[in-house]
Amino acid sequence: MLNPKWLWILSVAITLAVKGAVGALDLNIDDPDSIRTAAKTTAKNMMSQYHGHEPGQIPGKLPDTWWEGGAMFMTLIQYWYWTGDDTYNDITRQGMLWQKGRNDFFPRNESSYLGNDDQMFWGLAAMTAAELGFPEGNSEVERGKDGEGKEEKKEKQPSWLSLAQGVFNTQAPRWDTSACGGGMRWQVWPYQGGYTTKNAITNGGLFQLTARLGRYTKNETYLDWAEKIWDWSASTPLLRAGGEWTIADTTSMANQCQDHGDQQWTYNYGAYIGGAAYMYNLTNGGEKWRAGIDGLLGTTWKTFFPRGNTMSEIWCERSVTCDRNEDLFKGFLSSWLTFTTTIAPYTADAIIPRIQQSALGASRQCSHDRSCGRRWNKDAWDGSSTMESDMSALSVFSSAMAPFKPGAAPLTPETGAFSKSNPSAGSDEDTNPQKQRIISDGDRAGAVFVTLLFLAGWIWGFAWLVCGNEQIK
Ligand SMILES: *[C@@H]1O[C@H](CO)[C@@H](O)[C@H](O)[C@H]1NC(C)=O
Ligand SMILES: *[C@@H]1O[C@H](CO)[C@@H](O)[C@H](O)[C@H]1NC(C)=O
Ligand SMILES: *[C@@H]1O[C@H](CO)[C@@H](O)[C@H](O)[C@H]1NC(C)=O
Repeated sequence: MLNPKWLWILSVAITLAVKGAVGALDLNIDDPDSIRTAAKTTAKNMMSQYHGHEPGQIPGKLPDTWWEGGAMFMTLIQYWYWTGDDTYNDITRQGMLWQKGRNDFFPRNESSYLGNDDQMFWGLAAMTAAELGFPEGNSEVERGKDGEGKEEKKEKQPSWLSLAQGVFNTQAPRWDTSACGGGMRWQVWPYQGGYTTKNAITNGGLFQLTARLGRYTKNETYLDWAEKIWDWSASTPLLRAGGEWTIADTTSMANQCQDHGDQQWTYNYGAYIGGAAYMYNLTNGGEKWRAGIDGLLGTTWKTFFPRGNTMSEIWCERSVTCDRNEDLFKGFLSSWLTFTTTIAPYTADAIIPRIQQSALGASRQCSHDRSCGRRWNKDAWDGSSTMESDMSALSVFSSAMAPFKPGAAPLTPETGAFSKSNPSAGSDEDTNPQKQRIISDGDRAGAVFVTLLFLAGWIWGFAWLVCGNEQIK
């Protein structure tokens, strides 16, 4: 007779094998209903880990991270746009408005520790809402105290567009000319590790935000900024334009931005390609921007699609070192490439098949009853399971709806966008660390604290240098 222990192990193995095979999402890339179902399941799994809308919780806040909230709402707005499912619209509105700070996504609870890129992601979420015609906050927002504790009963909620403008208005004064002839620093405050680093996502992200503000408002100021950020980036290793077309992740001010942290990340490419696509569209096919799109797309295909048409975060997936931030990056590249096809339609033939294959790959990592794994180019589930991988998968599933929505494109007022402009939004507060402030007693006590933090930052920054160039967030 067979030993009962072996019988038990055998039955567990069979159960696991069956569960593994049955568990993966079933995706037919040619059937919009199938795509919608996969996206809906994944959105549900992702949102099961968000509690900001529950009593006693902080709307818009995910545990131990602030920036991911902005990324999540951006993903949910795109999900609503591509699939039509408005299940999470109220939660999105509530979370974004709660975290709006003084209409600049620089809320006091968080602002002492923020990177420029963190704030920028919330700005891109608001810009996405404006461009896709996401219902404005005024419509049915919950009344009560807002995130800063102010009564907002009579206060009108700011438009999505104005929140994106508020981010621009607080970031533009932080443009730093003390080294490298320009550029945005990664972090906002001197006591933060990364204050003396200039990096691709911060600059590429603001480039994209200003290009989008420019296309929406036709205000030359934004377009001049977009051009300035692109040209400055191209004067550093962050954007090796013309020929090589690679994007370095970081460069340091100590070396006048001559050195380069060459880790290759999908979202850096997505940020610059996406921004270039808006400029291309706005300039009616401008040669400079077309060269940028084509050059960076070429490197993107070579680097992040190592075998066939499925996207891979090559820098961390093979070595199994992806952290929660990095698990989000493929989602950004997916959505920014997809919107590129709507405003630079000549790119669709190259981009759409890669989005479709990547969505199929993601479906093999996802399941009805758990969060998705990360390695889209594996035949079977890679055993990982994070809400960040859910977010990336949701983004690529939503993107796979693009072929079924002909004529989709980010709106401008000429094509039906209704979000109102407020060019001075968010500029009622001095959030520029480089400006002198008048010192009061309270400030002096604060200064001691900040000095201590500064020292801690130094030690941390030193450890960061010694221990290697991994991104710390
Ligand atoms: C700031 O923190 C307080 C205390 O935890 C919380 O009640 C409030 O909602 C937070 N505001 C924001 C914008 O996160
Ligand atoms: C700009 O985008 C629109 C969609 O909004 C598209 O119809 C048009 O072809 C694009 N322009 C160029 C030069 O590709
Ligand atoms: C354009 O944007 C700039 C910068 O925000 C602002 O100062 C200016 O008033 C805007 N112009 C118009 C016409 O809206």
